[in-house]
Amino acid sequence: MKFFLDTANIKEIEEGVSWGCVDGVTTNPTLISKELVGKTDFKTLVKKILTIVEGPVSLEVTSITADGMVEEGKKLKKLGNNVVVKIPTTIEGLKALKVLKSLNIKTNATLVFSVNQALMVAKAGATYASPFVGRLDDISEDGMSLIEDIREAYDNYDFETKILVASVRHPIHVKEAALIGADVATMPFDVFKKLINHPKTEEGLKRFLEDWAKIDKSKLMF
Ligand code: G3P
Repeated sequence: MKFFLDTANIKEIEEGVSWGCVDGVTTNPTLISKELVGKTDFKTLVKKILTIVEGPVSLEVTSITADGMVEEGKKLKKLGNNVVVKIPTTIEGLKALKVLKSLNIKTNATLVFSVNQALMVAKAGATYASPFVGRLDDISEDGMSLIEDIREAYDNYDFETKILVASVRHPIHVKEAALIGADVATMPFDVFKKLINHPKTEEGLKRFLEDWAKIDKSKLMF
């Protein structure tokens, strides 16, 4: 299973990459706009992200027509080999997915909320489909059962599109996505940090170090 960071924040990306557990990054217009306010321009920010991250980096189009999405997608792709063009799950989006696939440009169909949408974007050639689990939980639906259903539907027909679990809000989402067999979970840095924490690890390490401090260090062989 791949872990992507769902952020455009350079410090978070640099830190995550240094842990050796970040396989890629996803962004969206909300995340990018947060980093641009009074700081830098889009191209500089994105180029920086693309140099830090070796794996796929999703950059979202803001056009709503297929032609506009394709043109934006081509421009985004020129920024780096690891760019994945994020396309909204709409009819215009399907048309754009098809064209971008024919141009060998990788895509991420975003804002997927149903199995049928996941099937449509897979048929249109999306590299990744991004179901938003947290936003379904927000409206009292079970986001994770959608992931289970999409996994089953894709496996029934050997679709190659990867399931990229998005709108991840807490570590349980990540664990459940892994157990279901999702291909990728993208998460905010805050959730990523929590994956490594366990109170028994901290307690155990504290005790080891306390016991070690008690011994006579002159008896050490090295
Ligand atoms: O990048 C898309 C998705 O992960 C956004 O998550 O928390 O805004 O629903 P959220």
